[in-house]
Amino acid sequence: MPLSKKNPTSQKSWSSLKEVYNQENNLHINDYFKNENNRLENFTASLNDLYIDFSKNRISKKAFDLLIELCKETDLKENIDKYFNGSTINETENRSVLHTALRSKNSDSTEISEEVKNTLSKIRTISDEINNGVRRGYSGKKIENVVNIGIGGSHLGPEMVTEALSFYSQGIKPYFISNIDPDYTENLLKSLNPETTMFIIVSKTFTTIETLENAKKVRKWFINNVNEESIKDHFIAVSNNTEDPKEFGIESKNILSIPEWVGGRFSLWGSVGLIISICIGFKNFEDFLSGAREMDLHFKESHFEKNIPVVLALVSIWYNNFFNCETEAILPYNQFLGKLADYLQQASMESNGKSIDRNGNKVDYQTGTIIWGSTGTNAQHAFFQLMHQGTKLIPTDFIAFKESLSGDAEQHRILTSNFLAQTNALLVGNKKIGNEIQKNIDGNKPSNTILINKLTPKNLGSLIAMYESKIFVIGSILNIYSFDQWGVELGKSIAKEILKNGKSNLDKSSSQVYDKLI
Ligand code: F6P
Repeated sequence: MPLSKKNPTSQKSWSSLKEVYNQENNLHINDYFKNENNRLENFTASLNDLYIDFSKNRISKKAFDLLIELCKETDLKENIDKYFNGSTINETENRSVLHTALRSKNSDSTEISEEVKNTLSKIRTISDEINNGVRRGYSGKKIENVVNIGIGGSHLGPEMVTEALSFYSQGIKPYFISNIDPDYTENLLKSLNPETTMFIIVSKTFTTIETLENAKKVRKWFINNVNEESIKDHFIAVSNNTEDPKEFGIESKNILSIPEWVGGRFSLWGSVGLIISICIGFKNFEDFLSGAREMDLHFKESHFEKNIPVVLALVSIWYNNFFNCETEAILPYNQFLGKLADYLQQASMESNGKSIDRNGNKVDYQTGTIIWGSTGTNAQHAFFQLMHQGTKLIPTDFIAFKESLSGDAEQHRILTSNFLAQTNALLVGNKKIGNEIQKNIDGNKPSNTILINKLTPKNLGSLIAMYESKIFVIGSILNIYSFDQWGVELGKSIAKEILKNGKSNLDKSSSQVYDKLI
């Protein structure tokens, strides 16, 4: 069964939300705190080590209740069931969407469970063998570096997570080749010793030009420095296409599959996460999956009012569709999460950057927002000024960890005090008048507070799954297909056409640029 196809703007709750917006959009968040006795109770939710406070938003309880009503009117509960039970909800590609099965213990289908179990067992074997020194390079030396060659979903998740969890490193150093930039690749290869380096070619389709060309370049370098025979000891492939990697010289036991029902941008939980498991060890990788599994259960079973992904999605829709905010910022106060915003950019913008609804009509309302961000406190010294005193309203997720990993409580306190200072300042501002007017800060700037006990593999798994489900809820309510990416496909095919036929099909401007560039 496909997802339901209800236009959100035709729902009763949507009209009421518009009215509430017109009445309340000038109110200050402080007013909501004054007027609503139970605001903190109503606007917080938690799961295990995660605590979410969304009370610092320009949303009254009345608006929030209507947003909950919108979920009901657009069949969110039924759609969530379809998301988890393997219904063909990616209709334009005629596929189910089952990345959640990669971390589930009890899938409805034995075939899917088998596939997941087999892949996990391959991930465990390879990770353990590399870490224990059982699987070595051609010359007998221990593997020290692993290079992931892949782009988009075959790169962003693995890179973000290996960096985020580098505290749990088992000693292997991760590297990533994603862009087709010969200078970068050559520079990296200069620093690597082929005897101690393992390459993982990750591509669901095994047709992505950047990945295939980079893989060819690395293969050539390897053969020049070693020989063709040893490719089998140094190359692993992760793909839905299990035939082409064999031609590359990769042995069957070193080919891991990506099932068709796993979308690239949600694929880090399975074979695409191989480099994560190698770097942090399989036991930690299992914890990472268990954190996501617990978030999935919470998402499936909690009432909407206390359902973390649902409430975050509703806050996002409120700003996007009623306040007309164009962007959302992600601000983790943790340097290890420096690539979280990049990762969420793909997960969210490739999913919900759509303008045709599930009935085939052009939408006349906003869909996906622009996702961006950086780490605190660095961002405070870069773009926070605009957030405090600029003309844009930027909904933000502030993410903080209660404990540091190193145990340096003193420095950690400085970090978390800054975190708190910023969400407080954004809310309350600083009223000035007269000759001090330039210093006036209105406040009333929204933020979600996401508190997590500690940056563990399990908690990171929950955090990522939280955002995945938030993305699903937004797509479900806004009546768009979140799991295809036809816009990206167009660019890919034009690039191939240029390589094959030159400028013949380009527009006038691009054709002139072609003459200057190529
Ligand atoms: O960027 C578009 C995209 O299709 C992503 O969805 C995907 O993650 C990426 O290309 C890489 O595709 P593949 O894994 O097939 O090489």
